[in-house]
Amino acid sequence: MRIIRVNSYEELSERAAGFISAQITLKPDCVLGLATGTTPKGTYENLISLYKKGLVDFSQVRTANLDEYAGLSPKDPHSYRYFMNTELFDHVNIDKEHTFLPDGLAEDLLEECRQYEAKIKSLEGIDLQLLGLGHNGHIGFNEPAKEFIKDTHVVSLTESTIKANSRLFEKPEDVPRKAVTMGIGTIMGAARLLLIVSGADKREALNLVLNGPICPECPASVLKLHTDLVVIADKEAYPEE
Ligand code: F6R
Repeated sequence: MRIIRVNSYEELSERAAGFISAQITLKPDCVLGLATGTTPKGTYENLISLYKKGLVDFSQVRTANLDEYAGLSPKDPHSYRYFMNTELFDHVNIDKEHTFLPDGLAEDLLEECRQYEAKIKSLEGIDLQLLGLGHNGHIGFNEPAKEFIKDTHVVSLTESTIKANSRLFEKPEDVPRKAVTMGIGTIMGAARLLLIVSGADKREALNLVLNGPICPECPASVLKLHTDLVVIADKEAYPEE
C-alpha cells in the first residue's frame, strides 16, 4: 500500500486524474472501474481538462462503474448513469457503448448482478479501480456486514448511507433503499486500486481502514490485502504521516 498525503482536495483531484491518465497512456484500451459521489468530481473535472488539452484520449477506454441505485432510470438525475454522463462521459471522447453500469431498472436484479459480473469478466477484468470511502467504511455499496460478499449483488442501504446520500435528493424518503454493487471480490480483482479520501468527516473512517483490523464490519479494511493499492488522502482526512 502506498499513501500519498496531499494538502488539499484540489491537489488530490489533480493527482488522481494524473494517475488515471497515466493508466490510459500505458494501455489505451484499459478498463477503468469508476465511482460516483462527491469525492471523484474533481478528479473527473481534471480528466476533462486533460482531455481538452489533448493530453488524454478516451477513444478506446472501457469503463465499469461500482454501483447503481435500484429503480432509477438512466435519465433520472439521481442515477449514477446520469452522474457519469454529466460529470465525465459527455465531455470526453469516450464511446458510451463502452461504458457500463448495473441496470437499476432490470426486472430481475439478481440476474442483472450475474450479467454485470459476466460483463466485467468479458472485459478481462478491471485495470484500475477508483474508489471513494463511505463514512461507515463502505466501498461501492458494500455496507458494514457480518461477512464480505464476493460478487456483484443487491444491497439494502444502511440508514447512515441513506442519510449521507439524502443531501443529493429533495427528501430522505426519495433515496432508493436498494442498489446493485460490485462485490468485494469484484473490486479486489482489479489489477490496481486507487482510493481517494477527502475531508475531516472521513478521518475516522480512514483511520479505521488503515489502523483497524481487516473485517467485514469495515468493508474498506480489506483493501489492505491488495498488492497494488494507492491511497490519496488530503490532510483533513489524513492529518499525520
Ligand atoms: C459511489 C460509491 C460510494 C462512494 C462513497 C463516498 O459509486 O461507490 O462508495 O464512493 O459513498 O461518497 P462521497 O465521495 O460522496 O463521500
